[in-house]
Amino acid sequence: MSPVPAIPGGIVQPPSVGVRFAGVGSALPSKPVKNTDLEKLMDTSDEWIVQRTGIHSRYVVDRSRGESTLSLATQSLDNALTDAHMKPGDLDLILLATMTAEMSCPPTACRLASEIGAGTIGAIDVTAACCGFVYSLNMAYGLIRSGLYRSIAVVGADTLSKYLQYDNSGRSTSILFGDAAGATILRATDDTSKGLIAQAMHSDGNRWVDLYIPESLEHDFPDGHEASDEKVQRVQMNGRAVFKFAVGTFSGVIQQTLDDAGLHADDVDMYVCHQSNARILTAARDRFGLDQDRLYINIDRVGNTVAASVPLCLDELTKSGRVKEGQRVMFVAFGGGLTWGTSLWQL
Ligand code: COA
Repeated sequence: MSPVPAIPGGIVQPPSVGVRFAGVGSALPSKPVKNTDLEKLMDTSDEWIVQRTGIHSRYVVDRSRGESTLSLATQSLDNALTDAHMKPGDLDLILLATMTAEMSCPPTACRLASEIGAGTIGAIDVTAACCGFVYSLNMAYGLIRSGLYRSIAVVGADTLSKYLQYDNSGRSTSILFGDAAGATILRATDDTSKGLIAQAMHSDGNRWVDLYIPESLEHDFPDGHEASDEKVQRVQMNGRAVFKFAVGTFSGVIQQTLDDAGLHADDVDMYVCHQSNARILTAARDRFGLDQDRLYINIDRVGNTVAASVPLCLDELTKSGRVKEGQRVMFVAFGGGLTWGTSLWQL
């Protein structure tokens, strides 16, 4: 389906449309990595990891089998199209949230469009670290509501394992992250009760030094950080600072979004949150007095899967019938940048 045509004079007619989730899908790589596997590679223990993070296992790509950000993104979008009973040619645009593109050029989204057989539609990589998927949902909503597009695939895919060091030097980060992809398809609908209720997108570039991946030994290490060849192309994180930031920001941005929507925490059926640390998630759950079922946690099985984290949760929740049409659902994320944001929907 081609984008909505411009009316004479070149101005797009903004339609009165709702936006709905037409389908979801996800993909995990083939290689499970349990805490006990990591014990063999570095000085750590299953007990330490579970106590500090809630993670028991995660999956990482096996590159010898051709697994990568692109392959996971392709599989997840194929699954979402099947779920939506749509063909690749029905899509108008692809937004691929990733911070682990195959290369800096071309955008991985272009190869994704080609892999699934979507022809020459627009395809963009969105880089907002762990917030990429939530930011992209908000952007896709705006593009559909404006009348420019009718069917947009929003995909989150990351393979951060390529920037991790599975030994003692990287033990504070390699235990946290896993690889995955998740996809959803947003479509215009005549039912105007469906769509975005409220949203937030924030960043604080002053805090970039708390979570970064240096590309160059000479230029990318901030003052006070010891530069070395071993750290180049490896995740650098101030875990304690990020933890503190996350606990406060997470609750703050949820409250701001509820206030903007004129809702209470209980009015939202499900909180689909970025999985960074089980302690951060349970702190938010306690802060809003939510029962266990209303803020989903799967970090124990998959770790922190960066931009794939939120759509992977959504796919699991949809498949198990816990998220369905008619509900109010809030998506929440934070991450490198530093960035944080929400997307609150009437499904
Ligand atoms: N196994 C065992 N010990 C480890 C370890 C590991 N895998 N990683 C670090 N340690 C050690 C540290 O070296 C330190 O030892 P020291 O006291 O002798 O120096 C000790 O454990 C405590 O380290 P610290 O970093 O203070 O632990 P912590 O309680 O803050 O937990 C994190 C570390 C990373 C789990 C935690 O800070 C966290 O989750 N932060 C948020 C990270 C995040 O969410 N990032 C993604 C954002 S999208």
